[in-house]
Amino acid sequence: MSNGRRRGRAMRPKRLALTEELLPKLALSVVTDDRGGLVPLELAALFDSAPRDIWLEIGFGAGEHLVAQARANPDVGLIGCDPFFEGVGKLLSQIDAEGLKNIRIFPGEARRLISALPVACLGKVFALFPDPWPKKRHHKRRLVNRDFLDALARVMCDDGEFRLSTDHDEHGRWLLGFLLRHEAFSWTARGPGGWRARPADGVLTRYEQKALAADRTCIYLQFKRRKIGNRSL
Ligand SMILES: C[S@@+](CC[C@H](N)C(=O)[O-])C[C@H]1O[C@@H](n2cnc3c(N)ncnc32)[C@H](O)[C@@H]1O
Repeated sequence: MSNGRRRGRAMRPKRLALTEELLPKLALSVVTDDRGGLVPLELAALFDSAPRDIWLEIGFGAGEHLVAQARANPDVGLIGCDPFFEGVGKLLSQIDAEGLKNIRIFPGEARRLISALPVACLGKVFALFPDPWPKKRHHKRRLVNRDFLDALARVMCDDGEFRLSTDHDEHGRWLLGFLLRHEAFSWTARGPGGWRARPADGVLTRYEQKALAADRTCIYLQFKRRKIGNRSL
């Protein structure tokens, strides 16, 4: 995953116009100070009215899950993070069409955003099908590893929820391996098969739809951020 914005095919003119007019109003930018350190983001002033909670979606793709959560939870502030420029355009179209007020966008890489977030600010984090890279040589690109989970644990509230999904068994084992070994997260699956069904308030995403159409099985994992004394974890 690159650190900058990724561009794919040419964008429709209406979407392109939204990236020029609406995106600057909704975009979070992470900046560095004179010493090269990241300036912490001020979340209090980010939304028009103070949200009851702030949730983050990493890798929102075309934005359908982020938009559904924002629509269903108008009192929550949602931050969507994805460097895929075409997807940002699709998300902006939906925000504009529905007049949603509670989404902000970081059009970049998740680790950079998380490094600039304040301690214990996120009540929920979603990473739905983030890593479509089954080959071993691509494993280093994967989002979840020990360093990522340390960084995420720092910014999640006690009892906060971290949701992940994948359509690849080996990737599912990879995710579980890292999460079960991490002291700040506990798996909330109830009984065998607790990872086979999409959470009740989840929505079918574009990638998931393609995976199911190709007869791949999807795995849905939910974790709780444990209350532990050390806030550096
Ligand atoms: C396979 S797509 C899934 C998109 C969407 N969640 C869905 O289910 O349809 C993976 C998305 O995650 C984004 N992504 C991957 N790694 C990321 C990272 N480190 N930070 C932010 N976004 C990331 C990609 O740009 C891409 O849009």
